[in-house]
Amino acid sequence: MPHNRSKDEFHDFIKKLESQSLETAEERHPIYIKAGLKDADLILDVGCGSGAVTRDVAAHTNGVVIALDDADDMAEIAKKVLEGMNVEILVGDAHSLPFEDNTFDVAICNLFLMWAKEPQKVVNEMARVVKKGGKVVASLEPDFGGKIHWPPYPGVDEIFAGKSIEHRGGDPYIGRKLRMLFVRAGLKTEVGLGNKRIWNCDEDKASYIRSRNFYWKVLKKEGLSDGEIKDWEKNYLKSLEEGIQFNFFPQFYAIGTKI
Ligand SMILES: C[S@@+](CC[C@H](N)C(=O)[O-])C[C@H]1O[C@@H](n2cnc3c(N)ncnc32)[C@H](O)[C@@H]1O
Repeated sequence: MPHNRSKDEFHDFIKKLESQSLETAEERHPIYIKAGLKDADLILDVGCGSGAVTRDVAAHTNGVVIALDDADDMAEIAKKVLEGMNVEILVGDAHSLPFEDNTFDVAICNLFLMWAKEPQKVVNEMARVVKKGGKVVASLEPDFGGKIHWPPYPGVDEIFAGKSIEHRGGDPYIGRKLRMLFVRAGLKTEVGLGNKRIWNCDEDKASYIRSRNFYWKVLKKEGLSDGEIKDWEKNYLKSLEEGIQFNFFPQFYAIGTKI
């Protein structure tokens, strides 16, 4: 299914996914080990996007990864990113997975349930297609209701604390719902906090610079003028320079075993 982003927005989104995958690698990798990716023969990555995270999934297993996304242009990017790896890419809808029951050893997703129209249906589907004893994994899903941000910047903070995600059709509070979704899918469930790291100011700055276009576009879409964004950016970068910026939001993981 094609999305409704412009060419520029698509390009920025791909860059953002690449940046996010780098920034979250050390948080996702222990989850891959815990979920037993290494010994899995067949893994499904649902909502694979550009393949930036699928690349890590594939690197953690000796098995084969099937990566699925409903956007054709995303799948095309993923094909390039994952060329030569143990991955096959398919276009399909996570709400009705095109696989038989009990097919995979692990079905995994990352930063995806927050965008799914019906996350319960997706988790049910992931549970359906894994074998008995297999795992359903959500590696990281955020909860912006738990965001701590200082120094405050009224007019912008609430945008990044969920408003913009809600306006783009996502669920900013999906993190807290993971246990419910997995338990209701009949899975023996473990949930936990995936991100515990506090970044230093230089890392935060580098991350902002990598995704600057993306942040500007989000703020513009929310109605801020160039002047307002520049003012916010100046303050934001200054607080990073001074080392007084604190920005944390919990990202949860869930690992469910099919019984
Ligand atoms: C935020 S991206 C995450 C991509 C990747 N998992 C990552 O962490 O980099 C969400 C992806 O889910 C895809 N998507 C959204 N709804 C979908 C659906 N119903 N079925 C399959 N993919 C879907 C989007 O096209 C997008 O590529």
